[in-house]
Amino acid sequence: MAVTREAVLAALGRITLPDGGDPVSRDLVRALTVEGGTVRFVLEAPTPEAAQRMQGLRRVAEETVRALPGVTAASVVLTAHAPAPAPRAAPQGEPPALRIGRHPAPQAGPEPLAGVRHILAVASGKGGVGKSTVASNLAVALARAGRRVGLLDADIHGPSQPRMMGVSARPSSPDGKTILPPVAHGVTMMSIGLMLADQDTAVIWRGPMLMGALQQMLGQVAWGELDVLVVDLPPGTGDVQLSLCQKVPLAGALIVSTPQDVALLDARKAIAMFRQLKAPVVGLVENMSVFVCPNCGHESHIFGHGGVEAEARRLGLPFLGALPLALEVREAGDAGTPVAAGDGPSAAAYARLARRLVAEGIA
Ligand SMILES: Nc1ncnc2c1ncn2[C@@H]1O[C@H](COP(=O)(O)OP(=O)(O)O)[C@@H](O)[C@H]1O
Ligand SMILES: [Mg+2]
Repeated sequence: MAVTREAVLAALGRITLPDGGDPVSRDLVRALTVEGGTVRFVLEAPTPEAAQRMQGLRRVAEETVRALPGVTAASVVLTAHAPAPAPRAAPQGEPPALRIGRHPAPQAGPEPLAGVRHILAVASGKGGVGKSTVASNLAVALARAGRRVGLLDADIHGPSQPRMMGVSARPSSPDGKTILPPVAHGVTMMSIGLMLADQDTAVIWRGPMLMGALQQMLGQVAWGELDVLVVDLPPGTGDVQLSLCQKVPLAGALIVSTPQDVALLDARKAIAMFRQLKAPVVGLVENMSVFVCPNCGHESHIFGHGGVEAEARRLGLPFLGALPLALEVREAGDAGTPVAAGDGPSAAAYARLARRLVAEGIA
């Protein structure tokens, strides 16, 4: 017999919290999904400190749900509200505003991830330009070049790495805390898509919960010793980008653009954001550049040509190369075997990009 939501909530309601009440009446349980025998939900702590104290509760909740008849698997993710925002600077010429009450702890600076030498973010201003494609292929190409590579899918709203890397198994967690990431095509990878819901379900989370998930994927995943962790960012200049730059030091951000002006315009915004966050921009790549007709070999520049290189020059940033527009790229991505894992012109272009990043000491 399948378990019901009501049965799960009733069981969680019987857990007593150390300071009284239960997780349900205290409104800590979020995003509960029951699919067949698989139960998933989020425990949302009011603050990051409270989240630390709630590790035990997370385990108890998971065990409680797993013990219910009809439950085959249970997974509980702990998230926290972000700390209170820092007070805005007073306008010039005015004394700083007095802060009354509990003062928020000063924000800690970025801290390196143990065992990870370089963190390389793949970013763009706009969706659909091929960030995820570039991230997965670059990760595979770096692994083929002998680097120890991780791939973190930080596109928490629309994770695409499980599909692109061909991974669907849920990661295991022997102690209920450490998450053991799967390895695909020589790359250690992690995506929220592997932790929650099925891959076709868009994840609609609020900002603070997002940050909790990002924090978990950075801190709780057993990445092991890595030369480089490639991070596939969501499009734009939002919370995830900001939060990533605050939490870990980036070796750099690689900006992906298509040759179209509109994508370039967005790329400029992304570059401006990283500069403001003091994260180095390592350079620009032009994706969906030349299209080589698979039948006659004719080359056409469907979205224009040379725009990204010219823009890089204008901004004083390195142009790291052009990646061809090719049917095989999309097909390989959809099939879960990145094109960089094979041979051919696209794989060669990724191998060149990987060599360049290694030579420049970025990866
Ligand atoms: N160079 C390319 N040639 C052909 N198709 C591509 C190329 N780059 C990306 N695509 C396809 O374009 C779509 C969007 O790419 P994706 O990597 O998901 O973009 P983003 O992560 O920036 O939103 C995908 O279907 C992908 O397979
Ligand atoms: Mg993407």
